[in-house]
Amino acid sequence: MAATSSLFSLSFAPSRRRSIPLSRSANPSSAPSDLSSKPQLIELEFLGPKAGGDGSSPVDRVTAISGEKLLRNIMLENKIELYAAYGKVMNCGGRGSCGTCIVEIIDGKELLNERTNTELRYLKKKPESWRLACQTIVGNKENSGKVVVQRMPQWKK
Ligand code: FES
Repeated sequence: MAATSSLFSLSFAPSRRRSIPLSRSANPSSAPSDLSSKPQLIELEFLGPKAGGDGSSPVDRVTAISGEKLLRNIMLENKIELYAAYGKVMNCGGRGSCGTCIVEIIDGKELLNERTNTELRYLKKKPESWRLACQTIVGNKENSGKVVVQRMPQWKK
């Protein structure tokens, strides 16, 4: 009878693990929010590559969803010239192995990811403001603001 009584006590013993139903207010991540459903936006301004006769640079403007794309992809999708002559035909397609997709971040670098190891290798002796567009993530999904990009800084005079 000892076995029966232990079975009985096991099956009817109060459980120590209780499931507590979560209400919407107890779980803020499931609460509906206008902020979480709206994507944050990054405004991009692309200068150059060279200033015109009057000293002003041509400017292209694009808006991107924060944290969604690489700078290289944004530029190519919007037909903004990224590569100089050699890079046009010899680029690695964004795999980080050619070092030809160089841009300079004039303003808004805090809205981008940190330099990757690939960039640290290719841009070791270059100004800190230079980035490889194929390694640069625009935004982090939560931030928003404006980034100013100089195209082909190596040819800027
Ligand atoms: S496209 Fe080759 S390193 Fe960026």
